Amino acid sequence: MIDQLSEIERTGLEALEAVQNEAELEAWRVAHLGRNSGLMQVFSKFGQLSKEEKPVVGARANEVKKAFENGLAAKAEAMKQAALKRTLSQEQLDVTLPGRRIPLGRLHPDTQTLRELYRVFGEMGFQVFRSREVESDEYNFQLLNFQIGHPARDMQDTYFIEAEGRGDNPIVLRTHTSPGQIHAMRWISSMNPDNPPPVRIVLPGMCYRYEQVTNRHETQFDQLEGLAVGPGITFSDLKGTLADFARRMFGQNTRTRFRASYFPFTEPSAEFDVECFLCGGRGCNVCKGSGWLEIGGCGMVHPVVLRNGGYAPERYSGFAFGLGPQRMTMLRHKIDDIRYFFQNDLRFLEQF
Ligand code: FA5
Repeated sequence: MIDQLSEIERTGLEALEAVQNEAELEAWRVAHLGRNSGLMQVFSKFGQLSKEEKPVVGARANEVKKAFENGLAAKAEAMKQAALKRTLSQEQLDVTLPGRRIPLGRLHPDTQTLRELYRVFGEMGFQVFRSREVESDEYNFQLLNFQIGHPARDMQDTYFIEAEGRGDNPIVLRTHTSPGQIHAMRWISSMNPDNPPPVRIVLPGMCYRYEQVTNRHETQFDQLEGLAVGPGITFSDLKGTLADFARRMFGQNTRTRFRASYFPFTEPSAEFDVECFLCGGRGCNVCKGSGWLEIGGCGMVHPVVLRNGGYAPERYSGFAFGLGPQRMTMLRHKIDDIRYFFQNDLRFLEQF
């Protein structure tokens, strides 16, 4: 019987070795540990053994049973681990991992500067007035005192959109925000033509010029125009307004200067510079050693322009200025090429 038990043990453990899945394992359990298994039959014949045989056969039978039970538990555990490993490698889902961060968009650096300009001028009492980007020659030039063939037109190389059948008034993409001055003055003066209300506005927006593209010139760029019209407005008001603007925008100690210039729609005209805020006026490569940065053009609104807007120049005067927000953004962030603004390159945009 001892030999029979050894044979039962050998074949049982061999069969266990060959088990591949849970169903086979269950079948093995029934066959080798179940009621009808060879091992259980040995146990059932136990009563027929002699007194001397009983402890020897009993001990051996229990040993085989223990070996089967341990083998079964080890095999079940190994199969469980293998199944878990398979699931992990096939499904590759670890619910304990933190979620992926969704990148948040943000405002374009140009928009950020524009919003800051609106805030600063808003605090100074200027409202935002928007006007069209597609203009007529009349609004873009003629009503601003650029007569047909005027040499100053050459300063603003123009995209002509439609000329046929329009004589001297082709459709153009606006080359500057100044035509908005006429739209705004006409609209505001129409409220009370005999006694037009005062104007204090900024006019932001895209402008287009058929330019040779360089690191400081694009064919599409922003401008921010300013316009104040009312009785008794003087050049001192213009200087005070722009000097105050520069202090609010670039810091309390910012110095400003005005240089004589020419625009057909302002008289007198000036270029407006701020002390270089990068080198504090000592001179650096950004201000080309001069200590000053050019921020835009300005001047007193020309009497012809006032009249074209519905404001009698005998009773009203005003000032206007035109700033380049992208050039300001470039200066503030030391951006050396204006072409980055519209390339949609995230390596650039994510820095702001
Ligand atoms: C004008 O366009 C005038 N309309 C400004 C003005 C308004 C003067 C009211 C007086 C009264 P100018 O061509 O200089 O002026 O342009 C003004 C600003 O626009 C420049 O200082 C510059 O910052 C920006 N600018 C002009 N051309 C380009 C360009 N191609 N690319 C980027 N910015 C430009």
